[in-house]
Amino acid sequence: MKKIVSGLLLTTLALTGVTPTADASKRVDDLMARMTLDEKIGQLNQLTGWGDNDAMKGQIRAGQVGSLLNEVDPVVVNKLQKVAVEESRLGIPLVFARDVIHGFKTIFPLPIGQASTWNPELVRQASAIAADEASSTGVRWTFSPMLDIARDARWGRIAEGYGEDPYLTSVMGVATVEGYQGDDLSNPSTMAACAKHFAGYGFVEGGLDYNASWIPDNLMHEVILPPFKQAVDAGAATVMSSFNDINGVPPSGNKWLLTDLLRKEWSFKGMTVSDWNSIGMMVLGGYAADLSDAAAKAISAGLDMDMESHAYLPNLKKLVEEGKVSMADIDSAVRYVLEFKERLGLFDNPYVDMKTANRFFSPGSLQAATRAVEESVILLKNEGNILPLERKNIKIAVVGPMADNRHDQNGTWSFDMVKDRTVTPLTSLREIYGDRNVSYTQALRHTRDRSTEDFADAVNAASEADVVIAFVGEEAVLSGEAHCRTDLTLPGAQSALLKVLHDTGKPVVAVYMTGRPMVITEDLPNCDAILYSYHPGTMGGPGLANIISGKANPSGHLPTVLARTTGQMPLYYGHRMTGRPAPENPILINDLELEAGQTSTGCTAFYLDAGFGPLFPFGYGLSYTTFSYDHPQLSASHMDKDGSLTATCRVTNTGSREGATVAQLYVRDIVGSTTRPVRELKGFEKITLKPGESREVSFKLTPADLAFWRNGAMTPEPGAFDLWITTDSASGDPVRFTLD
Ligand code: GLC
Repeated sequence: MKKIVSGLLLTTLALTGVTPTADASKRVDDLMARMTLDEKIGQLNQLTGWGDNDAMKGQIRAGQVGSLLNEVDPVVVNKLQKVAVEESRLGIPLVFARDVIHGFKTIFPLPIGQASTWNPELVRQASAIAADEASSTGVRWTFSPMLDIARDARWGRIAEGYGEDPYLTSVMGVATVEGYQGDDLSNPSTMAACAKHFAGYGFVEGGLDYNASWIPDNLMHEVILPPFKQAVDAGAATVMSSFNDINGVPPSGNKWLLTDLLRKEWSFKGMTVSDWNSIGMMVLGGYAADLSDAAAKAISAGLDMDMESHAYLPNLKKLVEEGKVSMADIDSAVRYVLEFKERLGLFDNPYVDMKTANRFFSPGSLQAATRAVEESVILLKNEGNILPLERKNIKIAVVGPMADNRHDQNGTWSFDMVKDRTVTPLTSLREIYGDRNVSYTQALRHTRDRSTEDFADAVNAASEADVVIAFVGEEAVLSGEAHCRTDLTLPGAQSALLKVLHDTGKPVVAVYMTGRPMVITEDLPNCDAILYSYHPGTMGGPGLANIISGKANPSGHLPTVLARTTGQMPLYYGHRMTGRPAPENPILINDLELEAGQTSTGCTAFYLDAGFGPLFPFGYGLSYTTFSYDHPQLSASHMDKDGSLTATCRVTNTGSREGATVAQLYVRDIVGSTTRPVRELKGFEKITLKPGESREVSFKLTPADLAFWRNGAMTPEPGAFDLWITTDSASGDPVRFTLD
């Protein structure tokens, strides 16, 4: 693991102090000793709070609520908190929570877009801004980062994570935790992180949300768990159990996951929370006979807080009295809840400071959000270097349903965004090039619109312009939770729109704004340039316009593959070689002769109608300049079992414009006691180089970085390895070394 992450981890551990101080422990001990069983169970109950109402106040006053989610009015927060602190018997404060997934009021690119920046420092900054804004309303706990590895883009929640790779996800997850929590979580402008959804949710069968997931041990330990372990080691305050079931056992009732692994093996000292009604879902899913049985299974598995299942409050007392649930399990959960509140400083500082409440949209936040968009945009194609459009007197035809769409530009999970503060690409392009030089034809009412009746207007606008910029993609509702799709191509008539624009003969720049990696195979020949972005948020306009005009040089790289067809899903770069790898140019379906013989296409692993591999590889991204990567050099050709080796590579900006590239370190274990991926990302560094400038990047590898799941543990295995330092997962020439 690259030094920067381990160094940050050590710093974070020392600073965040996941273990409570002596005074905090004493206060918790004192409270525990005085709490009734009802009051203990009340602390395990999280409800969605909507406003200042007597029913909610009554429950709080009776000590039946430990946390509220979704209340974001600081006046109401303080009112409800006052009831808890001054009117309940023990005065235990509430913790207020919200899904702050990619910004609170200042909306940043979707997490998958933030991953596309390959810049953890920027992600840390975005998270710190989100925490400052949210905490100024009383929200001190967010249900983020989502660390689910996703390799099936049919799953709508791929939008909320950091892509297909465990290393990239780990680095971004740690940066997000550190951004939210800062150096001291008792600082009222910080926010507790929640590593979710624990675990394996991204592997729901068929990319269908809430579905079962079948996860062998090596996939679990090599791919799914590492980002969660890194987040826990970085001091994440909470962990959320997920909706899927793991080989038949739902995480919300999974003792191996929540206790044996998380508590005993990882020594997690924070608090666990269910997902929304995920305890209750065990009844419908056939894992619990009724809500009481589900409550018993959950608390016994080690699930501390019940989010909106209404399972703990009405059932746990009777279960304890019947001996079906131990008091030790109740006390353990309550202690984690109280220690969590201590760590947040809520006992000493429970109220929102109304003098500094509602801190939103600072110039610094908007600037950071603009930079995040600039660094998240991926340049996939730039035929004839049509981009950037540096001539200011150029005539531009802006076309498409995502060009001026202040709602959908913010993407999924942006509950608190302010539509009127959202700046669209049309607005920003007109600011740069002048209203008279930028025409606008929406052409489609929304991204699902199949009507072509306005295409003529778009064609006319194109014919009067020097260049067309088509903004296409998905509405926000087409990705995110419960929004899965079996067709990853552009919805509606958007691809047809790109075709008619292409047929005008004018240069076409396509800008995608989506919630997921889409299939753009059909569009590729109709676009001279393609900028791919994930819903960019509040400053999507300035960020994209700065890229288009050349004020910023694109430096985004894909955090997942882009498939050729939906039918390839799941698809990812770290696949196995198989014993029959596809040839470079397999015979495809349209090349088949009539009555072709059964073995005429060869017997190897490829689709007749899609070949093998993605349209664009993981890690791919172009720039307005070019870079060269020298062959990697190794400090040694052998690594002994207690040693390490350093790989270096000289990278040069061979173009005429300053730009950033992401040097990526991959390894391949040539032979293993189980088959191994053809490549695994083990390090990366984003570097900015001036024209002609060269710099050496270096990565330190140890045997632990080469470990995989064998004999019941993550252990390295001697043998030969290939190593690349390159600019994406499909390029570069390897150098070989041996682990002795
Ligand atoms: C949702 C999501 C989870 C979210 C929670 C609270 O169903 O699965 O990610 O944090 O409920 O809104």
